[in-house]
Amino acid sequence: MGEFEMTNNKLILAIETSCDETSVSVIKNGTELLSNTVLSQIDSHKRFGGVVPEVASRHHVEGITATIDESLVSAKVKMEDIDAIAVTQGPGLIGALLIGINAAKALAFAYDKPIIPVHHIAGHIYANHLEQPLTFPLMSLIVSGGHTELVYMKNHLDFEVIGETRDDAVGEAYDKVARTINLPYPGGPHIDRLAAKGKDVYDFPRVWLEKDSYDFSFSGLKSAVINKLHNLRQKNIEIVAEDVATSFQNSVVEVLTYKAIHACKTYNVNRLIVAGGVASNKGLRNALSEACKKEGIHLTIPSPVLCTDNAAMIGAAGYYLYQAGLRGDLALNGQNNIDIETFSV
Ligand code: KG4
Ligand code: ZN
Repeated sequence: MGEFEMTNNKLILAIETSCDETSVSVIKNGTELLSNTVLSQIDSHKRFGGVVPEVASRHHVEGITATIDESLVSAKVKMEDIDAIAVTQGPGLIGALLIGINAAKALAFAYDKPIIPVHHIAGHIYANHLEQPLTFPLMSLIVSGGHTELVYMKNHLDFEVIGETRDDAVGEAYDKVARTINLPYPGGPHIDRLAAKGKDVYDFPRVWLEKDSYDFSFSGLKSAVINKLHNLRQKNIEIVAEDVATSFQNSVVEVLTYKAIHACKTYNVNRLIVAGGVASNKGLRNALSEACKKEGIHLTIPSPVLCTDNAAMIGAAGYYLYQAGLRGDLALNGQNNIDIETFSV
């Protein structure tokens, strides 16, 4: 590690409530997972076809205390044993973030513990560290319901965003396209499942943007799918959901894979890590592992349970931020548009 000294045997209690999962975890020394309790709200949001912010906040309020208790019990530790409380500061739904932040502040005040604010995307990146220690330099591809980014890291807590989506996040595009073929929320996993059975017959566009750009754009692709379906319906031509899924997924995967590999080559790194809910996608995992093998790039993707939102990843990143001396106080607020680079040390 670079500029800061590491001390051992630190227990972090981590809290994540940025979207539709209430999660609390206890982590030892940034890597040893003692507990990772996740209370998902997906069943509740399903009937609305997406996450309803007010409903999400209400579920976080109802679930947070029991989730903290359960996480401590399953880690077999007490609040008194905890060294610091890490909490997602943003980005995320502001009302949802505030539930986790207020719980963290209440615990910090009652037990006299420091608070560590954590960037949600830094958490997704550090999910990899729970399974395989991060080695640097590396490139990380973050693909979730709220984000699509390429982040270059020369060292721990050294974040440089080299590309990001200009409109929809990739998971958002998956969920919206899924809706058009009547798949339930969240649609990503359903498209992934259908894509394995279909054919790429619809020939959707690949959105590359300017030459050598690492930015992404998915809203045009989403519109192309919607227009195509509209067109087929008007002509009374049968729509094969599997073929829509395969054609859409191929377009997404081809662009993500090409840009991630191109970024690794340009920045001269031979380590690629992938993070976020869409990192569970089988098509993406296969394409990346094939391309990385060909290029001699070492690829790591966390297990699916660590790809989607969870507090363990916040604890893993929080441990390094704690060692670097970052502290929040009782005035800590949630922030939706917070930049990961401001968390660089
Ligand atoms: O990281 P995450 O749990 O939440 C955010 O921070 O956004 O990601 C959730 C997103 C949803 O859009 C969901 O449809 C997508 O990840 N997702 C997938 C798959 N599993 C989850 N998308 C494509 N293929 C999958 N297998
Ligand atoms: Zn996330």
